Amino acid sequence: MAFPTETVYGLGADASNSAAVARIFAAKGRPQDHPLIVHLAGVELLPQWAREFPPAAQKLATAFWPGPLTLILKRADGVPDCITGGQDSVGLRIPGHPLALALLKAFSGEASGRRFSGVAAPSANKFGRISPTTAEHVRAELGDAVDSVLDGGECDVGIESTIVDLSRGPAVLLRPGQITPAQIAAVIGAEVELPDAAAPRVPGALDSHYAPRTPLALVIASELPARLAALRGKKVAVLSRTESPSGLKDVSWQTAPRAVAGYAHELYASLRRLDALGCALILVEAPPATPEWQGVNDRLRRASSSSY
Ligand code: TXA
Ligand code: MG
Repeated sequence: MAFPTETVYGLGADASNSAAVARIFAAKGRPQDHPLIVHLAGVELLPQWAREFPPAAQKLATAFWPGPLTLILKRADGVPDCITGGQDSVGLRIPGHPLALALLKAFSGEASGRRFSGVAAPSANKFGRISPTTAEHVRAELGDAVDSVLDGGECDVGIESTIVDLSRGPAVLLRPGQITPAQIAAVIGAEVELPDAAAPRVPGALDSHYAPRTPLALVIASELPARLAALRGKKVAVLSRTESPSGLKDVSWQTAPRAVAGYAHELYASLRRLDALGCALILVEAPPATPEWQGVNDRLRRASSSSY
């Protein structure tokens, strides 16, 4: 079943049921060794999944859960390999969407008395493609591969959760998101490190992730007119935080919100819309390179194709 979270829609399955989890991998076309995030109804379920809950994790859980933050912790005994990708850690999150929480609470009520209660859910898109932020996106993306979609309207945040690894000592940022490293550092009282070579695998860390089918290029605002002039005669889409200049031919111009929250909220829907136009290229005007834009800039960089 697909369901909304405050970040993106997830494709959920009973995290303790290997056969159900296998269906997620099949529906997404995702490599089997990529770990999944387990979504929980409440912190009381954490000991089922994590064998250590260090002080930094407690502080972050108190500050940001329910919310768009995933914590990587040392896995508890018996957590299935299909969830962890065979690693000694597990990704956990209490999502901040009322429908997701209602689903998780109903599920953990049903599962009470069982050893594990949690819903494994990757983003409900085909592997490597743009995450869905509406129920329609999920249906368009996965079709009959998903039996039902809980419709909770548009996802508020619009990009995937911030992932922080606390399983190997100091906090390491594995995936930027709406919650910034500065916010995390302020809560735990220590800097957040960037991943090194020993960091666990994150598919989001592969090049060409979150990608539309149309080639996408990031351009700085001052270079946009020259890029458009060079592409004259071709059908081009533009995503920009400023209004369209007048007199452009063959250009589908989409004006994005100026502030980061609105921009992230609309980003994936805009990319899907522009992708469907059959243009030769999507030009995205690069947003500011400031910390609050890190999550958005990360997704745009991965969506951009190396050939342009
Ligand atoms: O916002 C989100 O996090 C959404 C919603 C549905 O909750 N979920 C999501 O799941 O983005 P997915 O599977 O598309 O991305 C989860 C990321 C992957 O990059 C995965 O590698 C990483 O989390 N991950 C999960 N468990 C991990 C672990 N034990 N160690 C390192 N990375 C892990
Ligand atoms: Mg994903």
